[in-house]
Amino acid sequence: MAGNWKMYKTPAETVQFFEKFRPLVEKSEHCEIVICPPFTNLAAAVDAAKGTRVRVGAQNVAWAKEGAFTGEISGPMISAVGASHAIVGHSERRQYFAETDETVLKRTLAALEFGLTPIVCVGERLEERESGHTEAVLVRQFRNGIAGLTPEQFARIVIAYEPVWAIGTGKTATPEIAADAHRAIRGQVREKFGKEAADAVRILYGGSVKPDNTRTLMAQPEIDGTLVGGASLDAVSFASIVNF
Ligand code: PGA
Repeated sequence: MAGNWKMYKTPAETVQFFEKFRPLVEKSEHCEIVICPPFTNLAAAVDAAKGTRVRVGAQNVAWAKEGAFTGEISGPMISAVGASHAIVGHSERRQYFAETDETVLKRTLAALEFGLTPIVCVGERLEERESGHTEAVLVRQFRNGIAGLTPEQFARIVIAYEPVWAIGTGKTATPEIAADAHRAIRGQVREKFGKEAADAVRILYGGSVKPDNTRTLMAQPEIDGTLVGGASLDAVSFASIVNF
């Protein structure tokens, strides 16, 4: 269960969140828990999560180790502060910051090279769904991105299906719609990396996940976890998603 805080919270607010969150997930051993705060809070989050099972991730990662890339943060910098994951290719990055299938692959490779677990996002826009192109978009994103990994690299990633029309809109994909998309993605994985890899890969659903819809989403065998934006900002709300 992963929380994506997007551009919210200061280090002090991060500490406050963890004070509330820690006791609520103390006994939650049924899943991995990852919180992805803004870069400026990574160190505070790692510190506040010490002694718990909660892991910390970044929301992006540069494709290079270092260099003249103003505004970017690299994998070694992220792991040096103790974070273990990085979201890659979030639809907000694709939509507002010109992220492409190609740069998503480069960032995924960099995350892997520098020891981070990439949470690689795919998902269609509203017009793509309405014109019946959902599967074609997912296949394109997969083939131009994840399919460029070796089987060993693939074994280390987590995939997140995030339909753009469901993000921050309050419109959750129905569990059936989400499961269909997950099946399509898993089908691509099977074709490229084989059945074992397809069975083993974790595919998270993201897009308006809330405490009251988590259980029905998680009831779908295709859905292995959730990537939560808005509802992960509040400790009680995110804890009740984790403990669905
Ligand atoms: P949301 O965001 O839960 O606020 O819809 C999900 C995401 O973008 O990861």
